[in-house]
Amino acid sequence: MYNKNKNKINLCRCARVNSCAPVLKYVKIIYMRMHKKSHLEERLANCGSILTTADLSQKNMKLAAMQRDLFSFACMFGNSNPVHLEVGCGKGGFVNKMALLHPEVNFVAVEKISNVMVEAVESALPLGLNNVHFLICAAEVLPRYIPEHSISRIYLNFSNPLPKLGYVRQRLTNPRFLQIYKSLLTEGGEIWQKTDDEAFFDYSLQCYGQEGFKISSVCRDLASHPFEGNVVTEHEARFMSQGKKIFRAVVQV
Ligand SMILES: C[S@@+](CC[C@H](N)C(=O)[O-])C[C@H]1O[C@@H](n2cnc3c(N)ncnc32)[C@H](O)[C@@H]1O
Repeated sequence: MYNKNKNKINLCRCARVNSCAPVLKYVKIIYMRMHKKSHLEERLANCGSILTTADLSQKNMKLAAMQRDLFSFACMFGNSNPVHLEVGCGKGGFVNKMALLHPEVNFVAVEKISNVMVEAVESALPLGLNNVHFLICAAEVLPRYIPEHSISRIYLNFSNPLPKLGYVRQRLTNPRFLQIYKSLLTEGGEIWQKTDDEAFFDYSLQCYGQEGFKISSVCRDLASHPFEGNVVTEHEARFMSQGKKIFRAVVQV
């Protein structure tokens, strides 16, 4: 439920307690409000060499996306290597490992929550990577920063499934996002998606088809059909340890 200021969420849930504690039938688990990290602005400013923070003065995302502050990847990375984009990078474990493993690829990682992104950028800095750049930005506004047809692969790792119908448009595989990705991808460019949520996975496959993407690979249990070079994300590690199935798709524009 939202607090008075509608800023942050205080989630309260009730969980049934197992038979070892018969007196307490329910325990209230309170997920504490996510506090803004201390010295956030200062910490982000210290990472300025590998971080761009979107201009948030324009509140209307549609209008913001129509403005142009395009990156020059040649200037940013000093080469013309292919560029891969991760949308919703969270704490950056995936993109940082990928950048270390693949110096021949440039990576751009996008995350809309600066409180989360700060961890991604701060863990990248000591690695001395020169092939990764971070962008604090909502995916809706990507066309403002990413030149058309400049990205050869997009990673959607464990995007929020948002099962409620009222949030369908926020799902990162909703057609409105797929249209944006299509405009950013090079000819033959790909989307690599992983999720633990089967319903969201099926929804995504349907949207890919609807938007004219070619589905090149579908895997409904990554643990049984591992692929070489898989880099495990923070969420993936957690879901795997819980014995959950991981779904994976590769689609081509
Ligand atoms: C469930 S987390 C997954 C993090 C990471 N990819 C992983 O696998 O561990 C999804 C992330 O996507 C981000 N996200 C959701 N919608 C977004 C949007 N429209 N633009 C940018 N980031 C978004 C969220 O803030 C969150 O950090």
